[in-house]
Amino acid sequence: PWRMPSTVQELAANVQEPPSRYLLPEEERLSDQLAGAEMPEAVPTIDLRRLLASDDGAGEEAAKLRSALQSWGFFLATDHGIEASLMDALIAASREFFRKPLEEKQAYSNLIEGKQWQLEGYGNDPVKSQDQILDWSDRLHLRVEPEDERNLDRWPGHPESFRGLLHEYTLSCKRVKDGILRAMARLLELDDDDRILDQFGDKGSTYARFNYYPACPRPDLVLGIRPHSDICVLTLLLMDEHVAGLQVLRDGTWYGVPAARNRALLINVGVSLEIMSNGIFRGPVHRVVTNSEKERMSLAMFYSADLEKEIEPIAELLGEKQQPARYRRIKCRDFVAAHYEYFSKRERVIESLK
Ligand code: SIN
Ligand code: FE2
Repeated sequence: PWRMPSTVQELAANVQEPPSRYLLPEEERLSDQLAGAEMPEAVPTIDLRRLLASDDGAGEEAAKLRSALQSWGFFLATDHGIEASLMDALIAASREFFRKPLEEKQAYSNLIEGKQWQLEGYGNDPVKSQDQILDWSDRLHLRVEPEDERNLDRWPGHPESFRGLLHEYTLSCKRVKDGILRAMARLLELDDDDRILDQFGDKGSTYARFNYYPACPRPDLVLGIRPHSDICVLTLLLMDEHVAGLQVLRDGTWYGVPAARNRALLINVGVSLEIMSNGIFRGPVHRVVTNSEKERMSLAMFYSADLEKEIEPIAELLGEKQQPARYRRIKCRDFVAAHYEYFSKRERVIESLK
């Protein structure tokens, strides 16, 4: 019978040292950078209830949002209206899934017939070359929207609560994403609050990605996820409540993002939005480091445009009095394909569109 390749979780349980395929090049090893630099200020925090209200408080939150987006490209959203109990239950269910034996999880593998890699399912990145450096993490990646295009055969059937919880969470996150993208359209002074949402086209996709980072005996030698910017329009990240690991690059320094309590969501700009906003909002470069003591989990919701749609700077932001277009137009499907090519070479796709 077919057996899927070892996951990082299995490796972690069986080796004293990470295998060579996971090791960073000498000059990129982390040694004293594991915690990252301390951010010079607390992570910008936006009260979503205030931001989306129609009173004076909204203006204050909008000003904070503007400054967060222009400095870091991400912020913590509190009072987002998603029940903490729903988040807790979904994370607990996914943890239960990751803890199941490999024989059970491989039914949801992202390798079709044991060979052909696909985005959806349980596993790791595609291995495109023998010298590619692998990340110290496993993941479960599922397309959750459009709802009628779900591949439910990739959705774990155990624990039994998993599918219902992910469905509920998808509905809740959609409200948060819509509210934030409308607030961002107002910041850009677009004449319609739905202008960014319109850019998704008919079949915008949402992917849920459950990241599982086993503890690593040598966290100085590997990365949980290598440096990248998210390709999507917007990411809603539910971080591990207790274990930090996310780092963000700013002016050449890697800053550690502390673990967030109280189920605040880390919202970050994706490069599709960087293009749509003509560079006014920037998709931050980030990575994840591991640690030798504790496993870490996170859940990212990625909101992306219809693959058939073209991504380009929004016309209203261009013109004689304003900026010329900083990025050329690209079909979303080609953009995603290019992203994976660049990602495996550890480069940023957006540089090719300038
Ligand atoms: C990601 O960049 O997709 C994961 C971030 C995290 O695990 O905190
Ligand atoms: Fe990311």
